[in-house]
Amino acid sequence: MFLVYYSFLILNYIRQVLYYIITYMFSNKTFLISGGTGSFGSRMLKNLIKTKVKEIRIFSRDEKKQEDLRRSINDKRVNYIIGDIRDYHSTLSCTKNVDYVFQAAALKQVPTCEFFPLEAYKTNVIGTSNIIDASIYNKVKKIIILSTDKAVYPINAMGISKAMMEKVAISKAREINLKKINCAICITRYGNVMSSRGSLIPFLIKKIFKNEDLTLTDPSMTRFLMSLEESVELVKEALKNGKNGDTFIQKSPAATIDNIAKALLKIFKKKNKIRIIGPRHGEKLHESLCTSEEMSKSISSKKFFRIPADLRNINYDLHNKKNSILKKKEAYSSDNTRILKLNELIVLLKKQDYIIKKLNQI
Ligand SMILES: NC(=O)c1ccc[n+]([C@@H]2O[C@H](COP(=O)([O-])OP(=O)(O)OC[C@H]3O[C@@H](n4cnc5c(N)ncnc54)[C@H](OP(=O)(O)O)[C@@H]3O)[C@@H](O)[C@H]2O)c1
Repeated sequence: MFLVYYSFLILNYIRQVLYYIITYMFSNKTFLISGGTGSFGSRMLKNLIKTKVKEIRIFSRDEKKQEDLRRSINDKRVNYIIGDIRDYHSTLSCTKNVDYVFQAAALKQVPTCEFFPLEAYKTNVIGTSNIIDASIYNKVKKIIILSTDKAVYPINAMGISKAMMEKVAISKAREINLKKINCAICITRYGNVMSSRGSLIPFLIKKIFKNEDLTLTDPSMTRFLMSLEESVELVKEALKNGKNGDTFIQKSPAATIDNIAKALLKIFKKKNKIRIIGPRHGEKLHESLCTSEEMSKSISSKKFFRIPADLRNINYDLHNKKNSILKKKEAYSSDNTRILKLNELIVLLKKQDYIIKKLNQI
């Protein structure tokens, strides 16, 4: 009995301490969310306005998306800035007097980037590089760069540009270390966000509503699944606990796309036909969130993997890093994580805001 009582007290104490750490981290701070009108940015914004932040800057190109967000969030601490991360000057002014940056602006659709790879390079690589340089110049304390599973063993232009983006971020983290600058760069990597803009689930739901065939590229394809809120939690974890150069990875279950389609049909009580159309350019059968080499040095917690960066300089002979010898480990992929069964998938999908909203529209 005493043991239960004391465990309860300790848990409560830990919860209080965590609450104060988060409150302190956020209070009176200025945040910049580049790509702030996107799925991640707007959810993170809703989280931040619940805290005592001083200012949140939403930076993106399209005024219509900003106008829509402005109308839905009525808070004078939020400032909307039109600009393009490809333009160094606009990143320079929006990072002035900012404490923390979330770099979420991206070209993220695989087919778009496959057809316009140079555009993906300009936004994802050069744009991110601009944000980092401008943040360092303006003495930002921490920059969190959002990446994706597609950057791991990349085979498409989107993934390649995101992998290059990660390389640029880590090289700048190394520079920060060498020059002893008071700033940290962290990367977060996650898989498919259920029902984010342009993703599979909204695509299929639209077809279900229009009574059209559900077109799947390959039914046996597996994809990691996470919620928008989990992507926000992952970024907050990097903000709280990330050291310069760290990459944070969300541990997630996965599902076959065939089961995703079947689960949606069951949820909406529909009988649309499933039609297989073959993989699109640059599509993988399974995705990976962590390479085998990264798994070998990853630090695992309940929800995340943390991969510390190798911040050595290029004079390899001068370093003695016997401890970092690679152990044989499997990559962390959507076919070796927990694969959700159809009934589990239905339960998970039914909890998603987007699906609840769509169910209410019937
Ligand atoms: N959604 C997913 O399933 C998923 C999975 C893994 C990783 N991620 C990563 O998470 C990040 C956020 O994704 P998301 O789902 O929020 O994407 P999203 O909904 O497509 O939003 C992208 C945001 O970036 C802005 N943007 C695009 N190009 C820009 C540029 N050149 N300059 C300034 N802003 C620009 C867009 O607004 P404008 O068009 O108005 O500029 C929008 O606000 C991305 O890095 C993505 O790769 C997403």
